Amino acid sequence: MTSVKTLAVVGSGTMGHGIGQLAAMQAIDVRVFDVDSAALDRARSGVRTSLDRFVKKGSISQEQSDNILGRMSFVNDLDKAVSGADVVVEAVPEVLELKQKVFADLDSRADESTLLATNTSQLSITAIASVTSHPERVVGMHFFNPPVMMRLVEIIRGTLTSDEMLDRTVALAEQLGKESVVCQRDAPGFITTRAIMALRLECIRIYEEGIASMEDLDKAMRLAFNHPMGQFELNDYNGLDIALQGSRNLREAYGERFAPPPSLVSRVAAGRLGRKTGGGWYDYPTD
Ligand SMILES: NC(=O)c1ccc[n+]([C@@H]2O[C@H](COP(=O)([O-])OP(=O)(O)OC[C@H]3O[C@@H](n4cnc5c(N)ncnc54)[C@H](O)[C@@H]3O)[C@@H](O)[C@H]2O)c1
Repeated sequence: MTSVKTLAVVGSGTMGHGIGQLAAMQAIDVRVFDVDSAALDRARSGVRTSLDRFVKKGSISQEQSDNILGRMSFVNDLDKAVSGADVVVEAVPEVLELKQKVFADLDSRADESTLLATNTSQLSITAIASVTSHPERVVGMHFFNPPVMMRLVEIIRGTLTSDEMLDRTVALAEQLGKESVVCQRDAPGFITTRAIMALRLECIRIYEEGIASMEDLDKAMRLAFNHPMGQFELNDYNGLDIALQGSRNLREAYGERFAPPPSLVSRVAAGRLGRKTGGGWYDYPTD
């Protein structure tokens, strides 16, 4: 399988700039596109800060760091970003209509042989691909946060994804130095989002039933299962609003076992969304 030489990322936020950095660290030329030029500036400085940390730790030299950043361009012109790219990875917000709009654009602008991947955590790959004229080249490529550090890529086969495109995606994950798993059916929540949501919702229910405190549930997850963080701590990082949306989506697909627990619903209604609002399950005073 020929290796990827040029990769474009659409959406330069938390995930997009990290995916771009990861690819540039594997000697791939990277174009990072965003509709918001302030986001592009933040992406560039985010990559620089992360590379500085690698230099400080001694894992790469200053020269290597400069070369990695030199392989990345941050552009606000989609045609420039995708022209000649072997792969495009989309990382715009988790809204189906938005992703469909992006894929309709990519369909007409990217070369016919370009693999089109989405970093969605739980939207249907098939629905995203449905707006394109070649749905067989659309695949789910779910990276984890932060993409440079996390070891896994979850690859999702859409209903019409071809074997060739799936194989190319598995090979790309390997080229990026990642392990991969393949979700063979485009089922809501795929493998990882479905499994982690089941655990998170059950932890919240144990807390609501008064069986254990949040602190003890988090301690149990860390010490009994070697999870780096408990579910409440982790959810404060990635947002209670994201968990609530995920729970509602999965309930629609799988029924009441994924119903949002009342304490999650009420916290989101009160604007307690996690670290980003100064508190969620726990409090994070700013001063
Ligand atoms: N944050 C996580 O921990 C995480 C983990 C795994 C997967 N994901 C998935 O990755 C995707 C991106 O999430 P994120 O957290 O990086 O979001 P984010 O909000 O940090 O970044 C999204 C970026 O997309 C840009 N954007 C919006 N519309 C655009 C368009 N039409 N074209 C180009 N850029 C556009 C925004 O300006 C923003 O910079 C989502 O599908 C999310 O579910 C997120």
